[in-house]
Amino acid sequence: MSTDDDKRLAAEAAVQEVSDGMVVGLGTGSTAAFAIAALARRTAGGLDIRAVATSEATARAARAAGIPVIDFAACTSVDLAIDGADEIDARLWAIKGAGGAMLREKAVAAAARRFVVIADGTKRVDAIGAAKVPVEVLPFARGFVVAQLEALGAAVTVRPDYLTDNENLVADCRFRDLSDPRRLAVSIAAIPGVLGHGLFLDEVDAAYVASDGRVSKMERAVRIVGP
Ligand code: A5P
Repeated sequence: MSTDDDKRLAAEAAVQEVSDGMVVGLGTGSTAAFAIAALARRTAGGLDIRAVATSEATARAARAAGIPVIDFAACTSVDLAIDGADEIDARLWAIKGAGGAMLREKAVAAAARRFVVIADGTKRVDAIGAAKVPVEVLPFARGFVVAQLEALGAAVTVRPDYLTDNENLVADCRFRDLSDPRRLAVSIAAIPGVLGHGLFLDEVDAAYVASDGRVSKMERAVRIVGP
């Protein structure tokens, strides 16, 4: 079994949660692409859903696959969102955003009554922190925000020649110490000029993780709200 097989298996397991009438949030990235393909097969078979997309690339892929995509700006809530992750641990804390879509991904995840992460086993970690934390930055405030992120202990690389779908920069942050992600998330979010970041600590309700062809499901009993 390859990593791609595991991504596909995790995606297909999550897509089983979709039912008629749902508004479904579609994630961004290579694992989410398998979910789009699986969902397209189900819609071709008669499943009646509407989707919101977390990126322009996902919107294009979903429409090309025949999935009806509606504007998230017109939605007040989403029934189920499915998305990949760069790291996920047993607390269902995740780092997302290697694909640069973390701001829209977090808005859709927060709007979702249920948010499910799909991943191959390489993304499953004991505690999040090895992956870089992407931060979406207002270009106007670039210098100030980078200095503030460095003051929080990050080695910062602003992605060269890259703008998000929202026309902002991404600062990839390698933190020396990510032992207290909650505190760090609050500190990053408090910097004026930061528009969002890839620490997902409260959003994930469940995760399907596939390793060597076997899918495991982790479920959060209660969604924790607050710092
Ligand atoms: C996109 O911005 C990301 O949050 C992705 O969901 C994450 O990087 C996982 O991507 P892959 O499924 O391609 O590994």
